[in-house]
Amino acid sequence: MAKKSSSPPVAAMVLGVGSFAHSIGTAIADAGANVSTYLTRSYGHFSPTLVGETYSRDAFPSPLPLIRKNKIDVVIPQSIDWATQPWADDLMKSGVGIFSPTSGAMRIERERDFARELCVRFKIPFPKSFIASNRLEAEKILAAHPQPFVIKNPLCSPTSPVHTILCETVADTRAWLRQVNYAEGVFLQEYLGRAEAGHIVLISGGEIHSLVTNQEYKYAFNGNMGIVAGAPLGGLVERDEQDKYGLARELIHPLQPWLRESKFNGPLQVTAIKRNGRWHVIEYNIRIGVTSGPMILRMLKNPVDVVLRTARNQKLKPEFRRQLNFGCSLTLAGYGYPFTQVRGPQLPLEVDGKFDCDVWWNEVGGGSDGNLMATGQRIADVNALAPGLAAALAKAYANIRKIRVVGSYFRTDVGQSLWPPGAV
Ligand SMILES: Nc1ncnc2c1ncn2[C@@H]1O[C@H](COP(=O)(O)OP(=O)(O)O)[C@@H](O)[C@H]1O
Ligand SMILES: [Mg+2]
Repeated sequence: MAKKSSSPPVAAMVLGVGSFAHSIGTAIADAGANVSTYLTRSYGHFSPTLVGETYSRDAFPSPLPLIRKNKIDVVIPQSIDWATQPWADDLMKSGVGIFSPTSGAMRIERERDFARELCVRFKIPFPKSFIASNRLEAEKILAAHPQPFVIKNPLCSPTSPVHTILCETVADTRAWLRQVNYAEGVFLQEYLGRAEAGHIVLISGGEIHSLVTNQEYKYAFNGNMGIVAGAPLGGLVERDEQDKYGLARELIHPLQPWLRESKFNGPLQVTAIKRNGRWHVIEYNIRIGVTSGPMILRMLKNPVDVVLRTARNQKLKPEFRRQLNFGCSLTLAGYGYPFTQVRGPQLPLEVDGKFDCDVWWNEVGGGSDGNLMATGQRIADVNALAPGLAAALAKAYANIRKIRVVGSYFRTDVGQSLWPPGAV
């Protein structure tokens, strides 16, 4: 093997903003990569500057010239919407590694009904689901199938007109069907209860590598109360190469023929709910995600190599650092969260003491006086890793308590429900 010092560092470009770019960028920069960020959204521009160069869409309508000039080896997209940008074809043709599946392989996340069809084809349990293009059709479906449905966007995108709405009764469903935006239609998925868990793998070189089993605390308030917002308030990951809960075996490995057909390489996450003793797929994602992704990269000994080899569809050997079996992520939410219509002013953010775990700034800006300001409703993600769950939780809580923003809050009960997988 060539000596590390003789080969130039891997050049990586994050396509994203906020805590995603801050965390993923830092994790791979700390492991030796050269990191820059192409800012794909209008907020969260400050924290990526703490990692490396940043480039705005206004100044650079396409990242391609930057990718060529800076000899980027791999890009790491935050969400799937890169594929609908005018420069997506050029990106795929450029030969740069993309840490995401591309083309037809993206349909497993992008099109909810396609994921359902795949599950039918491979006999993977999936809740009863329907597509409706308007309110009349949706109400007909509900009349023919009088049961609670979760209302979702049929086509996934961070800018969808519909965000997942949980309905627990038929009457809840009927009420929400009067309110939702039908511009892209709705996907109605049978409500399966609360016994949820997730599992994340990397697919590369024709093999499936289990990484972690995870949980996301998606209800906005303690006790799993309130609404399910766009992003969770907390998350757990457990190192799980052996797939001890069977989620990969039951819900990902059966897809192998399609993974080959579609030339899938990249991350794949399944979110599932256990009902009547069986896991059912509610969604697949093709990203390591904002909540689990940074903790996964920190758990690996060789995150740069793993990301690069996955992007190139080469054989992988993810190696885990010893003694980091659990991770806990806590989100500090700001004024008005989870109701995105509510707006507050920019507010001072104070840190009392020194952090001894990762803290990733999301909607945070640097004031001219060098002080930090909270600029939106999702302020920061605090990530702690430890040999055991209790230690990871304790460390994350000790650190989030050092941050003060007026009107902000976090859940104090992460880890107390929904774990181990299958528990409610
Ligand atoms: N069929 C379902 N039954 C019960 N809860 C569901 C169902 N579908 C989604 N949920 C809940 O809503 C959350 C978000 O739904 P998901 O399908 O993952 O969409 P997205 O992540 O795109 O918002 C899930 O993590 C789960 O907590
Ligand atoms: Mg989801």
